[in-house]
Amino acid sequence: MLYIGIDLGTSAVKLLLMDGGGKIHNIVSKEYPLYFPHPGWSEQKPEDWYEKTIEGIHELLEGADKSQVAGISFGGQMHGLVALDGEDKVIRPAILWNDGRTAEETDYLNQQIGREKLSEYTANIAFAGFTAPKLLWMKNNEPENFARIAKIMLPKDYLAYCLSGNHCTDYSDASGMLLMDVKNKCWSKEMLEICHVTEEQLPKLYESYEVVGTLKPELAKETGLSEEVRIVAGAGDNAAAAVGTGTVGDGMCNISLGTSGTIFISSKSFGVDENNALHSFAHADGRYHLMGCMLSAASCNKWWSEDILGTADFASEQAAITKLGENQVFYLPYLMGERSPHNDPKARGTFIGMTMDTTRADMTQAVLEGVAFALRDSLEVAGKLGVKIERTKICGGGAKSPLWKRIIANVMNFKVDVIESEEGPGYGGAILAAVGCGEFGSVEEAAGKLVKVIDTVEPEEELAAKYEERYQKFRKIYPAVKDLFQEL
Ligand code: XUL
Repeated sequence: MLYIGIDLGTSAVKLLLMDGGGKIHNIVSKEYPLYFPHPGWSEQKPEDWYEKTIEGIHELLEGADKSQVAGISFGGQMHGLVALDGEDKVIRPAILWNDGRTAEETDYLNQQIGREKLSEYTANIAFAGFTAPKLLWMKNNEPENFARIAKIMLPKDYLAYCLSGNHCTDYSDASGMLLMDVKNKCWSKEMLEICHVTEEQLPKLYESYEVVGTLKPELAKETGLSEEVRIVAGAGDNAAAAVGTGTVGDGMCNISLGTSGTIFISSKSFGVDENNALHSFAHADGRYHLMGCMLSAASCNKWWSEDILGTADFASEQAAITKLGENQVFYLPYLMGERSPHNDPKARGTFIGMTMDTTRADMTQAVLEGVAFALRDSLEVAGKLGVKIERTKICGGGAKSPLWKRIIANVMNFKVDVIESEEGPGYGGAILAAVGCGEFGSVEEAAGKLVKVIDTVEPEEELAAKYEERYQKFRKIYPAVKDLFQEL
């Protein structure tokens, strides 16, 4: 049988066609606009996601035996607020995971309601990108829109709704709304009250590998697929990526270098870090995970190369890099503020340390290193919890760069396992569809059978020591400029 995995990303939707043996038959990517209506705001139109997904399905299936497609599932950008009215029409553009407009509401939740209470109700505290502060923002700033909300959903759930007609979400993605009791996997009555919403306005909760419905007859007709095609709940993109890289079970790690950068640690049991610097979320394998999320990762390199240097030839830019472990330039990658571990929507991107002999290549190197150092900040928090990571998988657009993988292996001082398919969320989505259709008994079994490590990037003793010294300098920069960011 064949399975479609849909990775609903921030720059594009990527669709992947996989067979039951894990072989990828086709991949299609369709871009859509990202709007920044004010500095630090970030929005997209759910209608664009749907339109491009349908276009993508048509293209993905060209030349394929459509009768063999059994299931469709998703990995979706997390936290985005999609609000529908009583006729299931989108009320306003979705407010995305990297939107920083809710500083006031986030402060209200963390300070007035209190971090302890939030952590008790949901296992997490408020971060600007989470869904609950966005609801409060809408209530405070767009009361007429807020009053029209009949259903609240997350980005990939809007696609599942369009494909199946059902309002659904999954535990991994719902964890990032700050409305769910993560430990007990149910909506938190207290949080719903605090955010002035009711359970009727929320979608039904499923495990990521559960079937939520079948393809609507009119869509089956339009795409040439069977009406029996199962729509499987899917997961937040990080949990889906973890499935796609075999990061399931206990103590496994995955780094995603996409628009955001995440470090994801799977766990068989529920746990919370006492400062809530890492997110404590449900995993798509039915268990839990901890995660640190930086808001701008591969997007920093894209911004630097394309918007500032005016080239998309990333490989040539990186080929000019010569000072591994010895760069005097540092870069803070906070172009959209920062989530983990600083929780500071007002933080900004910063270069520091340039001299008259600084080269373009040094600046490019600083960008790649700044992202790796910022991920290390989250690893440090995990280390304080007693979590010891010796190796990681890696996925996302940035993982295509051998140099960036080498920098990460040395900054983290652990092994980086390279897998056959770096299509994390799309591949994970297809695996979840396969599990939902009964091809495998569990997510763990499927990932174990399908995900293959093809190479390992080892840390190099001398270089890792140099990077240790550089990292100790990097970590002093943010505290030194933090107050200034609040004024800027
Ligand atoms: C995770 C997060 C991002 C988005 C990116 O908490 O906000 O990784 O999911 O799509």
